[in-house]
Amino acid sequence: MSNLVTNESVSNQSLVIPWRDVSVCMDWLSQTYQTQFQIWDWDDQWSLLTPCEPHPNPEATRIAQEIISELPENTTYRIQPVSPDESLIIIPMEALTHRKRIATGLVSRQVGQGFHRVIQLFLDNLNQSRINAEQTRQLQIYSSQTSIDFEELTWFRTLVDNLAFEETGNSLTSSARQALTSLKDLIHAESLIVVLKNREGSRSLSAYDGIYTLGARQVDEEVVSDLLKMAGPNLCCQSFINNHVSQDDCKFSKEISSVVVIPAICRNYCFGWLIAVNRQSLPGNNGYAGEFAVRECAQFNTKAALLMESAASVLATQAHNVQLFREQQEILVGTVRTLVNAIDTKDQYTCGHSDRVAQIAKAIAIQYGLPEEDCQRIYLAGLLHDIGKIGVRDEVLTKPGKLTKQEFDEIKLHPVLGYEILKHLNQLQHVLPGVLFHHESWDGTGYPHQLDKEDIPLAARILAVADAYDAMTSDRSYRKGLPLEKAEQILRDGRARQWDPSIVDTFFKIIDKVHKIVSGKQSSFNMPTLHSEYVFEDDFDGEDSIHSAVYTTTSLSGVQLK
Ligand SMILES: [Fe+2]
Repeated sequence: MSNLVTNESVSNQSLVIPWRDVSVCMDWLSQTYQTQFQIWDWDDQWSLLTPCEPHPNPEATRIAQEIISELPENTTYRIQPVSPDESLIIIPMEALTHRKRIATGLVSRQVGQGFHRVIQLFLDNLNQSRINAEQTRQLQIYSSQTSIDFEELTWFRTLVDNLAFEETGNSLTSSARQALTSLKDLIHAESLIVVLKNREGSRSLSAYDGIYTLGARQVDEEVVSDLLKMAGPNLCCQSFINNHVSQDDCKFSKEISSVVVIPAICRNYCFGWLIAVNRQSLPGNNGYAGEFAVRECAQFNTKAALLMESAASVLATQAHNVQLFREQQEILVGTVRTLVNAIDTKDQYTCGHSDRVAQIAKAIAIQYGLPEEDCQRIYLAGLLHDIGKIGVRDEVLTKPGKLTKQEFDEIKLHPVLGYEILKHLNQLQHVLPGVLFHHESWDGTGYPHQLDKEDIPLAARILAVADAYDAMTSDRSYRKGLPLEKAEQILRDGRARQWDPSIVDTFFKIIDKVHKIVSGKQSSFNMPTLHSEYVFEDDFDGEDSIHSAVYTTTSLSGVQLK
């Protein structure tokens, strides 16, 4: 990273021996010599440390104050007679505590031979307290850091597992919001903002494809533009931190004091930015706890920027995958459209048949209670059910007169030919059962595999009814279409013999919709403006029907990062 303005000021507080340890040592010394010791602290001048009481002899306290004011450096201890019976013991402690601190006590002038040993024990005890305090402090730091590291690791796993865009657009998933909210808390930002840059061909009227704010401070497009401008000309390739936002930097400096801008880059393309604003100041959040905790400055540091870079990298990779996936979907839409047009071009008499079968089959599937995705799959299967006719000779397919047995056998190959044409398209595997089995019969007399009853896939049973009805009511090269009533009577007669009775029953429940579809005799995908003339209103969403079917039946789950 360059351009980083870093100011990671974490105070180093001088280590002091905890008062409770000093107190224990002083009590021990006091009990040994049956007298009360005092502790003096230096803070511009020497004064008795609370809660020490002055010596019972005021003169001793005055003398103690005089001596300690002039005590030479590196004095181990001193014994000063203050009366015929008493001596003042003076023990400097600053070497142990990193502070100027002195203990004084009045003892009998007859201190005995063990006095030096006692003083040394006292100092050793204090030194051990200092070592213990240091070890405790280190333990707290390691413990706190381990906790922070674990929190960051957990967050990163959540990020990688869940950070994804919604399949239906560029909005953030709830899990992505959760992961980014955790990041916001980890780096103590008031708000975290995801900004998606306008892509080529974007229909967005705004300067950005999306701005998503997580946190208390909501920002609009104007603020985002100002923050990105502040990041400078390299904002698409370099991270940027400013912990001292001024009026010269940004006109919103009264609301935003610190900011981090991280570009979301994948394969040298910047998809957008991750922006953190206003580092929150929290007491004791520097990794220390208890008496060692200090208040951290309200500034973003390089660690925050690195965490954000990780998140931005995952976001960019995900955005890249979504882009590739959308391109694949568009290719699939184009493939389906091309195949359907190829069928219609092959046989002008059946032009629009595939589209009507698809619409009728989808309407049956909806009425039958199938899920939206299955209905759209059946719609695509309807569009492609006769794709195998591309492999049937034109003179057979469009023959005006009656077909010979050999010619009919050739026609009967079209389900298998269709299966062979489509089986290599991975994203259309779900239409294969409908394509291969749409000429099977409920009683097992159909083709190509003479399946019967529920052995015939449901999609094929639905397509069989839709296909038969539209074929019977359409003009063909060799005959005029039957009246609707006649075709419907044939369906009733063939119920539970040629066709699944439950599908025939469902068909008649939506007969009014079917009449609208077959009365139009137009292609819904070639002439979308004619939709409203014949497509039932509750099924028309104003979108290209092939487009929405492909988008519904293909899932983004395959491209989510795991
Ligand atoms: Fe067919």
